[in-house]
Amino acid sequence: MRKIIIAGNWKMNKNLQESIDLANLVKRNLYNVEEVEAVLCPPFTSLSDVGEIVVNSNIKLGAQDCYWEKEGAFTGEVSCGMLKSVGCEYVIIGHSERRQFFGETNEIVNKKVKAALQSGLKPIVCVGEKLEERKSGKTFSVIKDHVENSLADLTREDMLKTVIAYEPVWAIGTGVNATKEQAEEVHKYIRGLLKDMYDEELADAVRIQYGGSVKPDNIKELISEPDVDGALVGGASLKADSFADIVKNSIKK
Ligand code: 13P
Repeated sequence: MRKIIIAGNWKMNKNLQESIDLANLVKRNLYNVEEVEAVLCPPFTSLSDVGEIVVNSNIKLGAQDCYWEKEGAFTGEVSCGMLKSVGCEYVIIGHSERRQFFGETNEIVNKKVKAALQSGLKPIVCVGEKLEERKSGKTFSVIKDHVENSLADLTREDMLKTVIAYEPVWAIGTGVNATKEQAEEVHKYIRGLLKDMYDEELADAVRIQYGGSVKPDNIKELISEPDVDGALVGGASLKADSFADIVKNSIKK
C-alpha cells in the first residue's frame, strides 16, 4: 500500500514569523490526520524553526533544494547533512523552477538525489513537460528523459525511498491543473518506466505525486486515479486552511 503524501512547497514565500504562524496553524488543523503523510517545505531560513514546531507531530519537514557536496567552499549552498541537522526528512530536487531559472540539468539533479539518499534524506524528484513540449507531442519523451536520467544508477533500496513528483510546467501557478485523465496517463507511464528500470514490485511501491494548481476542490478527483499517490502543492499550501483541506480531501475512501 502506498501512503498518500501531500507536500507543501512554500517556494520563496514566508519570512520567519510568517512561517512559524503558518506551521502552527497547519499543525493544529491536522493534529488528528494519520492516514496521509503531510510535509511542509519552507524556505531554508525557516527550516529550523518550523522543524521545532513539527517535531514529534504527524507532520514532516522538507527542504526545497540541496547541494551534493558535504561541506566546503561553496558559498550560498546548503548540504544534505545541514538539512538533516534541522530535522528534514525530505528534500525537493529538480523542481521545474530550478531547472528553468537556475540551469539544473538531469545530471545535476541526479548528483543531488544521490547525495540526499546517502545522507538519509528522502528526495522528492520533480519531472514534467513544458506547454510547447506537450503541444508538440513530446510529453512522454521528456518524462522518460527526466525519469531515467534524474534517477540514474539508484539502487532498488534507494529508489524505494524516493518520491517522484509529476509537475507539468504549464499547470504550475496557472490555475489550470492537469485533468485527472492527463495526470493518470503520465503517472501510469512513469510507473511503466520504473518497471522497465527495475521490476513490477518496485514500480508498484514507489509513490508518484501530482503537482500543478492543486486546490482543495480538485484534489479529490486527482487522487481518485489509481496511480496518483499525493500532491506537491505550491500556492494553496501558503494558507493553513487550504493546505489542511487538501490533505483531508486526499484521504482515499
Ligand atoms: P502551484 O500549486 O502554485 O501550481 O505550484 C505547484 C508547484 O510548483 C509545487 O512544487
